[in-house]
Amino acid sequence: MTNSPKIYHQIKEIQQELLPNRATKTIALVPTMGNLHEGHLELVKLAKARADIVVVSIFVNPTQFGVGEDFDSYPRTLDEDVAKLAGVGADVVFAPSIDEMYPVMPPPTQVLSGDIAKLLCGKSRPTHFDGVGIVVCKLFNIIAPNIAIFGQKDYQQLAIIKQIVRDLSYPIEIIAAPIIRADDGLALSSRNQYLTADERKIAPKLQQELQKLAEQLKDLALKTDSLQKPLTELIEVSKNNLNQAGFLVDYLEIKSPSLAPITSENVAATFQNESALVILAAAKLGRARLLDNLVVEKP
Ligand code: PAF
Repeated sequence: MTNSPKIYHQIKEIQQELLPNRATKTIALVPTMGNLHEGHLELVKLAKARADIVVVSIFVNPTQFGVGEDFDSYPRTLDEDVAKLAGVGADVVFAPSIDEMYPVMPPPTQVLSGDIAKLLCGKSRPTHFDGVGIVVCKLFNIIAPNIAIFGQKDYQQLAIIKQIVRDLSYPIEIIAAPIIRADDGLALSSRNQYLTADERKIAPKLQQELQKLAEQLKDLALKTDSLQKPLTELIEVSKNNLNQAGFLVDYLEIKSPSLAPITSENVAATFQNESALVILAAAKLGRARLLDNLVVEKP
């Protein structure tokens, strides 16, 4: 039998709840937009293992959705979420209203993350990471956690949050949680429920294509220069395979672990400069925009 977490909707009330514990207890924050799945619950389990009090925020943040995106239809399932959180021992849920979080909408104050927010997802969602930046800073200020857990599926988001913590001197340890996948390899996401039954069967191909590309990178890393294929050629083939399978590829790119551009078209030379490479992809499949990534360690 597990206890249900305490639920707070008001900033002042959750701060009063946390205040007496600050000096003696470790507080972890797991920020979410709700509609929780096994991936979120793994974040909570990680938090439980590292902290005395686990706070889960559930807030569908309007500032990170662009015009025409799925803010209105994003699934809101607070009761089910709270029941799932009870099962993994979360202590406190913070589920504020939009007015509570943003007394003035859109908020005139901004948190901008510079060039890193303009790459990858930032190209097709130019205001997305500004919205993530402000909401995450607000959650950090309200909860003042010692640690915060974010999933590695949102690789670029994680890199931006680490940058914000560094640049704004938040005394918060950021923990990256591994991607949780369905048995067929599809990375878990609340947006997977937008997939039709036929699309759901196609969806794991995204991960399979990243795996194939990773194998090719490892293989080429060990080959002599004369056998090298340019990276751009490998990427083009993967993109075509995905587009032919029914995806509309937004991007498929290979970056350094810090998301810096890689310095050579030659895989072996690239691995001489980097300890690992990251393959990152976003692709639309029907209504769903799927994100995935794979870190390829130097062979
Ligand atoms: O990753 C998410 O679910 C959201 O971007 C976050 C970090 C909760 C901010 O709204």
